[in-house]
Amino acid sequence: MAEFTRQLLRSRVCASHIARSRRFFVTHAVPDYSKIAPTVAFSFDIDGVLLRGAQALEEGKAALKLLDQHKIPYILLTNGGGKPESARVAELSEKLGVEISEQQFVQSHTPYKRLVMSYQKVLVIGGPRSGNACRKVAQNYGFKDCVTAADIVAANPAVWPFHSFSGAELQDPTFVRPLSEAPFDAVLVFNDSRDWGTDIQIMMDVLTSKRGKLGTSTAPKREQTVPVYFSNNDLLWANEYSLPRFGQGAFRTAVEQVFEDFTGEKLSSTIIGKPFLFTFEYAHTVLKRWREHKYGYTHDLKHVYMVGDNPESDIRGGNGYGWMTLLVRTGVYRDGDKFDHSMSHVAPSTPSETLDDVLKAVKFGIDNEHKLQHLESS
Ligand code: G3P
Ligand code: MG
Repeated sequence: MAEFTRQLLRSRVCASHIARSRRFFVTHAVPDYSKIAPTVAFSFDIDGVLLRGAQALEEGKAALKLLDQHKIPYILLTNGGGKPESARVAELSEKLGVEISEQQFVQSHTPYKRLVMSYQKVLVIGGPRSGNACRKVAQNYGFKDCVTAADIVAANPAVWPFHSFSGAELQDPTFVRPLSEAPFDAVLVFNDSRDWGTDIQIMMDVLTSKRGKLGTSTAPKREQTVPVYFSNNDLLWANEYSLPRFGQGAFRTAVEQVFEDFTGEKLSSTIIGKPFLFTFEYAHTVLKRWREHKYGYTHDLKHVYMVGDNPESDIRGGNGYGWMTLLVRTGVYRDGDKFDHSMSHVAPSTPSETLDDVLKAVKFGIDNEHKLQHLESS
């Protein structure tokens, strides 16, 4: 978790941030949305806030409609992913009943775009059908040679005899591609692995190869020769099941343990996604560009409200970036859950406020801004 600590140590959160945010919740004011809209914005987590699994929450639809009605800007900031942003926003627009633009949308792997200048040939891990959907995402970002686990199994099925691919898939030129001779520059985990065994074996082969050359090995020393990135750190996330499910953070834990048993060394990796600064800095840039594009707002932002269901990703990350944080009870978090104070010295996972659902959270944030405006004008 050194990466986590280092990234958040640079965060702008301060202990008085939570205290500061509390002093605005005092009086009632007549709502004048046109006065607050240019200086406030919202950032919404998706799973457990706007959606549960494939189903949109009615409160989510109403919350976004309210903000659109009053020209208050917002972005969607999810640790989810696995398909091109264009496909996901089309699906979300349909489910939520509002027009969501790619310009207001950040998935866990969207910031990988910033790695395109550094890497040519990447191993794409995770996503539907073991990376094939994510190959398209990686190609859209601009990576030149995007290889999936299925490509490597198709080239030599013995690489992992327990793989889950069908013979037809391994013969299908739209599903698998021939391998180039070039060495791998990086391993990028885009989304949840659909075949942990195949993915972990192939990741180990690439990570401990001689300078990224598949089929070679740095044995007997077995050292890491290729960087690896994980697009989120979620141990848990909320879908339609009654209890939280394991996310990419659980997969990373398995990869790290296998790597340590295999090499005797700790895996060196970079984890992005919420709660890390890399992702919140990227999201803040997206938010500023979006509000100007959509409404022409260029005023300084007084408050950004991060609305999430997971204290570890949404709340800790929002606090770490100096945003207000509103935790909702419709996803991972349940009343009585303990907040993890182990990392509080860098960014608390305690929210500015906890509310039942996203509509209540939006009304709370708007109300708070009205109160702030009233205070400032009195
Ligand atoms: O980690 C899994 C991911 O789907 C959670 O998504 O929207 O709650 O960040 P979200
Ligand atoms: Mg969530």
